[in-house]
Amino acid sequence: MSIPIVRIVAELRSIVAAWRREGFRVAVVPTMGALHEGHLSLVRAALAKADRVIVTLFVNPKQFNSAGDLAVYPRTEHDDAAKLASVGTHILYAPDAADIYPQGFATTVSVAGVSEALCGAFRPGHFDGVATVVTKLFLQTGANLAFFGEKDFQQLQVVRRLVRDLDIPIEIVAGPTVREADGLAMSSRNTRLSAAERRSAPRLAEILFETAGRLSSGEPVERLLHDARQEILAAGFSPVEYLELRAGDNLALMATADRPARLLVAAWLGQTRLIDNVEVESAQRSVQALKQAAA
Ligand code: PAF
Repeated sequence: MSIPIVRIVAELRSIVAAWRREGFRVAVVPTMGALHEGHLSLVRAALAKADRVIVTLFVNPKQFNSAGDLAVYPRTEHDDAAKLASVGTHILYAPDAADIYPQGFATTVSVAGVSEALCGAFRPGHFDGVATVVTKLFLQTGANLAFFGEKDFQQLQVVRRLVRDLDIPIEIVAGPTVREADGLAMSSRNTRLSAAERRSAPRLAEILFETAGRLSSGEPVERLLHDARQEILAAGFSPVEYLELRAGDNLALMATADRPARLLVAAWLGQTRLIDNVEVESAQRSVQALKQAAA
């Protein structure tokens, strides 16, 4: 099974124009490749809601904070294309850098507020890079729907905000975080963990779920977050960049878990930065599910 790979925006536009003439609804799943089950679950969700699905693959230099990180980002286009073909994706759009950032490119899309705290505070310019490329991909594909994973929860809120603010006619659909059997959130960066780090990594999700469960049953936020941070450090993560309780919609900091909330974390395990988050209200259920999965 193979999948058409399109690299030139003009070609993409003519394919999408033909789909439109047929009356098809078009979905896009933006990615940077190194695809795993998390991405494929978004593609399946997109296939269920749209007639045609485009997956984009562009390792966006503008959202990396260091040249070193960009250089080691996994590039696995051949395997990615095979995975996408196997689930029935219609097109892989893997543009040339010149089609995304042509000579003289001078525009930045910057979303204030939701992009400033959490990862935004530790990765200056990251969300400007994300917002800029996502805006271009929306405009290039002309899709009706776009799918993003909740694993990158802050990114999801940044994209929702930019679409609202700029009146981009696209519906943003969120997909739940997909986890390994031991609870570790799937991420393209997990391949960088050593065998020993991979064994420690699931502790992050475990602590997150347990803390969220206790938060949703009303225990004091400050003490719980302090204790959880110590547990994450004790599990071998360092530094813990943030562990915060934030409102699920606008990411405002919360001192009590008295409305829909999200517990978000970023921490380093060796040379790898891991992020994760969990919805606080449903956390109780998740602790039980995790225990059942481990039993
Ligand atoms: O989540 C990602 O993989 C990237 O941030 C995205 C949305 C494809 C933009 O480059």
